[in-house]
Amino acid sequence: MGNRDLNLETENVRLRKVRVIDVPSFFSLLQDPEVVQFIGIEIPLTTEKTRRYVNHLLKKWRSDNALAFSLCKLEPSGQEIVGGLACLENIDYRDSKAELGIWLGKQFWGTNLAKTGLILLLQVAFLTLHLRRVYARAAIENLQMHKRLESLGFEREGVLRKDAEIHGEPHDMVLYAILNDRYLHLR
Ligand SMILES: CC(C)(COP(=O)(O)OP(=O)(O)OC[C@H]1O[C@@H](n2cnc3c(N)ncnc32)[C@H](O)[C@@H]1OP(=O)(O)O)[C@@H](O)C(=O)NCCC(=O)NCCS
Repeated sequence: MGNRDLNLETENVRLRKVRVIDVPSFFSLLQDPEVVQFIGIEIPLTTEKTRRYVNHLLKKWRSDNALAFSLCKLEPSGQEIVGGLACLENIDYRDSKAELGIWLGKQFWGTNLAKTGLILLLQVAFLTLHLRRVYARAAIENLQMHKRLESLGFEREGVLRKDAEIHGEPHDMVLYAILNDRYLHLR
């Protein structure tokens, strides 16, 4: 994908490549302990750590390992409000798969921003990158994410025991995945 920018949007939602100018928005959205509860981000967060996080995502984009998008709400005026991040990570062209990740500021939960953003992200995975499989690992306690993934057609494949360390604690992770044929069928 190189450095090519991808911009995807609906009437209310825009997914665009993360930018360093998003750092203050991300820093503020990630202050809420509930937002970071199940994501492997180093806390307590500082502006500098947030900048490193964004730069790391941009580096992975340059090396074709990830596509990281700011998930923005579009106002009727056309103004965009950064609500969180949605990404395809661990992109593996040999095995034609990638891992999905998402987080949103609490004020955006339940607003359809996540759902619409993930629909756009799956469009990138299956229609632009032509991947065969998109998977996600969600902490076993993260029922909100389980429901969101299931609503998009992801199927639960099993539990990966102590698969991730989140804030210093090992966590069992539920593995979810959707394949291209199912995505195309549900579309
Ligand atoms: C995961 C996340 C993106 C989902 O956002 P969202 O889609 O706006 O979430 P919603 O509030 O619409 O909840 C999704 C579903 O879970 C349900 N839900 C919410 N809280 C729940 C809970 N505690 N237990 C069970 N179900 C719950 C909602 O009713 C909704 O179901 P519905 O679609 O049938 O109505 C958001 O919660 C988030 O950013 N969390 C923090 C970061 C994170 O955990 N990311 C995932 C890492 S793998």
